[in-house]
Amino acid sequence: MVRPTPPAGGRLVNRAQTCGILLAGGLGTRLLPMTAIVGKHLQPIYNKPMIYYPLATLMGAGVRRILLITTARDRPHFEALLGDGRAWGVELSYAVQDVPRGIADALRIGARFIGGDRVMLVLGDNVLHGPLDVLRAAVAARGDGATIFACAVADPSCFGVVEFDADQRPISLEERPARPRSKWAVIGIYLYGPDAPRLAATLEPSARGELEITDLNRLYLEAGRLKVHRLGHDVAWFDTGTPDGLLDAGNFVRACEARRAGLVGSPEEAAWQRGWCTDEGLAAIVDAMPPSAYRSALEARLRDGPRPGERQATSRSV
Ligand code: DAU
Repeated sequence: MVRPTPPAGGRLVNRAQTCGILLAGGLGTRLLPMTAIVGKHLQPIYNKPMIYYPLATLMGAGVRRILLITTARDRPHFEALLGDGRAWGVELSYAVQDVPRGIADALRIGARFIGGDRVMLVLGDNVLHGPLDVLRAAVAARGDGATIFACAVADPSCFGVVEFDADQRPISLEERPARPRSKWAVIGIYLYGPDAPRLAATLEPSARGELEITDLNRLYLEAGRLKVHRLGHDVAWFDTGTPDGLLDAGNFVRACEARRAGLVGSPEEAAWQRGWCTDEGLAAIVDAMPPSAYRSALEARLRDGPRPGERQATSRSV
């Protein structure tokens, strides 16, 4: 991909803001043979690489300093695709997970990167679409516990599942329960206070040999430091780790983009909407792209402008 030269200058991001980790390692075996040569998170969801979607989600939540954790095989491809993020107003850096030790391992690998900040961890195969105010509000709340998000699904047995008491407080968390205690699946977006790497370091591998994110979240639950936000029907969530999930997400994105002005899961659009990229900056990015449907969609976005209230008036990161 051709990217315009980013403006020279110092750091884009102040420390003490919430940082982000995008987890895009693992073997992607559920998508074999598609993932035999190229990792899952570089596969297309309709018209963009999968990784664009969770990256745009993090950006939409206001997170600008981001560590992408992937395999040694895929790291050079991600670096070629995304670069240092500067053209999109973010600071992207990279780390390798040599063995898929589990999702909570991301906080151990990223401990130095997190460096005492709060962190939003996003799984590289999760697609979230809808109003992201709830993510932005959680980031802005600046608590030091953990905040997770849940969606009601028909079959929660292949996810982390959270149960609530009569007062809607979370009371249990289970990973892939055979008999789920509720319909509320925990989605792959987790917000933690600065002590998450220290707590993750205390975890032991589960029966399936992984450092489970659900075990980490249970530590917060047991300490009374876990908030759970239930997402409503205005939010669409896909776990694209299976062929069906991938196809469902692709069809959803196609339908959305055909029916409304704008793109789903576009880092360029996210940067522009947040005010991290000016009209001129977006025009330069578009000009550097060879003709494609994606380029045309971004051009139309620039030409037609944002809908009222859609664009963030400030470039301040929360
Ligand atoms: O999608 C939400 C679900 O994600 C949660 O409900 C579950 O609680 C959580 O465990 C997770 O379940 P999955 O079955 O989807 O996890 P999976 O093994 O597919 O890993 C999720 C992503 O994280 C995937 O994109 C690969 C990446 N990953 C995973 C592991 C275990 C890594 O990069 N390294 C790893 O070691």
